Amino acid sequence: MSSVYHLSVSEDEIAGAQIALLPGDPARVEKIATTEPIKNGRFIASHREFCTWLGDIRRTPIVITSTGIGGPSTTIVVEELARLGVHTFLRVGTTGALQSFVNIGDVVISTGAVRLDGASAHYAPIEYPAVADYALVWALVEAARTLKIPYHVGITCSSATFYPGQERSDSFGRYVIRELKGTKREWQRLGVLNYEMEAATLFVMCSALGLRAGCVCGVVDTPTQEEISAENLQVAEQNAIRVAGTATEIFLERHKP
Ligand code: URA
Repeated sequence: MSSVYHLSVSEDEIAGAQIALLPGDPARVEKIATTEPIKNGRFIASHREFCTWLGDIRRTPIVITSTGIGGPSTTIVVEELARLGVHTFLRVGTTGALQSFVNIGDVVISTGAVRLDGASAHYAPIEYPAVADYALVWALVEAARTLKIPYHVGITCSSATFYPGQERSDSFGRYVIRELKGTKREWQRLGVLNYEMEAATLFVMCSALGLRAGCVCGVVDTPTQEEISAENLQVAEQNAIRVAGTATEIFLERHKP
């Protein structure tokens, strides 16, 4: 069978995988594919921001593909992997905390997402909720508990931009348009846990298409520590990867392909 256009991957190459782990960063793909419980990680393809590896959990193939940053490229990955037979998508991301009780290195398991993206509106009207698949949320919580990694469960804000949409003080222009001014404070008051850039798109498109989606993110910065250090990134990334891998194993035990 021929390869899908953007990912440059064919059905044969993913060997019947029905579950995908989706980091944003292409460099995180190999790390996921070579971290327990995933075994036998092997490179498949790299095209633009989309890097794909395959690995196994208890002999079940798992595909790992980077989405790049943001909703538009995430839709491409889900569309093309779904055409190859994947029906379950778990984002393995990084995130900025919004609440003071969420610390660097913790993981956030999203139950739903504020649709401050743009791409999800191409799949369902804005009144349609961005919610995670219940079984994946449950598996992620079980995994974090088992691994004793500090975790939080709740609502995420998915912003189309890293700087103005998240009202970051380190933006070049330092200007936030009226529509976005004060939104960070509002999300905090409304109990939103964290900012990232892909969950809402993933949740809406997967619900609309009859696919499963979940999201776990490692916390790399907080409102009082906006600068992201290499050390904090490594810890957060590692925690999210371990929770995602173990959650996939737990999910597989209950949902044999
Ligand atoms: N990703 C985001 O979108 N925001 C952050 O603060 C960190 C990671």
